Amino acid sequence: MISEKMQKALNDQINAEMFSSYLYLSMAAYLESQNWNGMSAWMKAQSVEEYQHAMKFYGFINEVGGTVVLEAIEKPKSTWNKPQEIFAEAYKHEQYVTKRIHDLVALAIEEKDYATNLFLNWFVTEQVEEEATVVLINHKFNLIGDNNTSLFLLDRELGMRAEK
Ligand code: FEO
Repeated sequence: MISEKMQKALNDQINAEMFSSYLYLSMAAYLESQNWNGMSAWMKAQSVEEYQHAMKFYGFINEVGGTVVLEAIEKPKSTWNKPQEIFAEAYKHEQYVTKRIHDLVALAIEEKDYATNLFLNWFVTEQVEEEATVVLINHKFNLIGDNNTSLFLLDRELGMRAEK
């Protein structure tokens, strides 16, 4: 049986993952409004992944006999200046999520909750992957600068994610 404290922390993480999903969907909407359809498709796919992360927490809480309690999702930002700014912000956001996951692991260890600790391992690995992916995209943006032809090609490359 999961402790009240751990359950509350995991429920908070459902909210954080749902906010991530909402934030990336908002980024997708903005990119689409600016005709960066490939980047928008990438963000939409990311938004779906974040929803799936939330559902993993949802499933786990139920599996260990806990209760899922959903809270209101914060309103995400809706405008940016350029695509590069969006992906830089996505990286910052992923760093924030990584810190949250690590805090959850620390709590699980403190509580000797080995089942939750094991469950969280998947997220520790996932965050390494997510950060690395966004770092690489940001690196490409930095190389490109404001070169429209290269931005067009990057848009097309990022759009391929949605086609996989
Ligand atoms: Fe659910 Fe992008 O971390």
